Amino acid sequence: MSDPPVQRAVAVVDQGAVERNCARLVDELGGSRLCAVVKANGYGHGAIECARAALAGGASWLAVAAAAEAVELRRDFPNARILTMGALTEAELDRALGADSDVAAWREGFARLVGERGAALGMRPRVHVKYDTGMGRLGERDPNAVLGLVDWVAADDRLDLAGVWTHFATADEPASGFFDEQLGRFARLAERVHAEHPDVLVHAANSAATLRDPASHFDMARCGIAMYGLDPFHSDPFSRGLEPALELRSYVADTKRFPTGASAGYGQRWRAPVDTWVGVLPIGYGDGVRRGLTNSGEALVGGRRYPLVGTVSMDNITVDLGSASGVEPGSPAVLIGAQGDDRILCEEVARRLETINYEITCGIAPRVPRLHVSSAGR
Ligand SMILES: Cc1ncc(COP(=O)(O)O)c(C=O)c1O
Repeated sequence: MSDPPVQRAVAVVDQGAVERNCARLVDELGGSRLCAVVKANGYGHGAIECARAALAGGASWLAVAAAAEAVELRRDFPNARILTMGALTEAELDRALGADSDVAAWREGFARLVGERGAALGMRPRVHVKYDTGMGRLGERDPNAVLGLVDWVAADDRLDLAGVWTHFATADEPASGFFDEQLGRFARLAERVHAEHPDVLVHAANSAATLRDPASHFDMARCGIAMYGLDPFHSDPFSRGLEPALELRSYVADTKRFPTGASAGYGQRWRAPVDTWVGVLPIGYGDGVRRGLTNSGEALVGGRRYPLVGTVSMDNITVDLGSASGVEPGSPAVLIGAQGDDRILCEEVARRLETINYEITCGIAPRVPRLHVSSAGR
């Protein structure tokens, strides 16, 4: 990835990596379609730019959670197939339909409303009926009720039955047998749906399922985390042929000498154990560097790892540069990403915080500019 000008906090996002990750997923999917999940501002990476890269990489659908996200995408992608996956209020439904997005339904009452609002807007909405095979969130649990709704939507000429779908709860846990239970339930229903409605798009897989079991691919997979080059199994994206697209960078704004016992940050949570140099990086939890990294995280400066010391504050963090670091103010610093021969993976940061890579990139704050670049790959 090329070096951007040094600035206080920037998320450098490589659209080339997103494109290559999508091409890798398309390859994995064989003949099934790839739906690129770009909700939550493309998991913090920038929805529009990542959608563009995903389509270039072979994705044929885009998915979001909220109507406002569909509206935003539609402005840039007048011809893309967009699926809004989340629950919608009546006002949100109007916005989603106004953006010509497909919508999800799992209750007849809502499906009827979709037909009514579509008629009022002069359109025939495309509906994806959701089967809750075990996630226990949105969707209908009873397969017979799902089939009933599928037939009901298909019979209503104000509606277009576009899809039948589910979502896995444990695809990222290789030891969990629950994934196979959900897959079995969905496969049984999918067979019946396909028998009666051969053109309907049946879809279930997220990134983990896509990489874990081809039987989950059906007609389309909805992949998010893997398209950003993050590991759906929380370990090493490179081992799965994925390239992390995002780097979170800052710089050393100042360095200062700390005599033994001098403290850094709120609450004096760190004191220099010996004489040392401390670097101040102007990035903090207001940018998405979580306070849980207090005395725990690391930053790369000059290609070397240095520990974050003292309390992470809203706008600044401090790193222990050691006794003779030679680090000069102005040196670039990396919180997530590569520098020299080393790399801090998003998964590593997530582990320290006992969370998942999704939350780390989604948590990069709006005040951090996203700088989109496009590398040619290796
Ligand atoms: C319904 C649904 N489908 C697909 C995805 C994509 O999942 P992943 O990012 O694990 O590929 C998500 C993400 O949370 C989702 O909520």
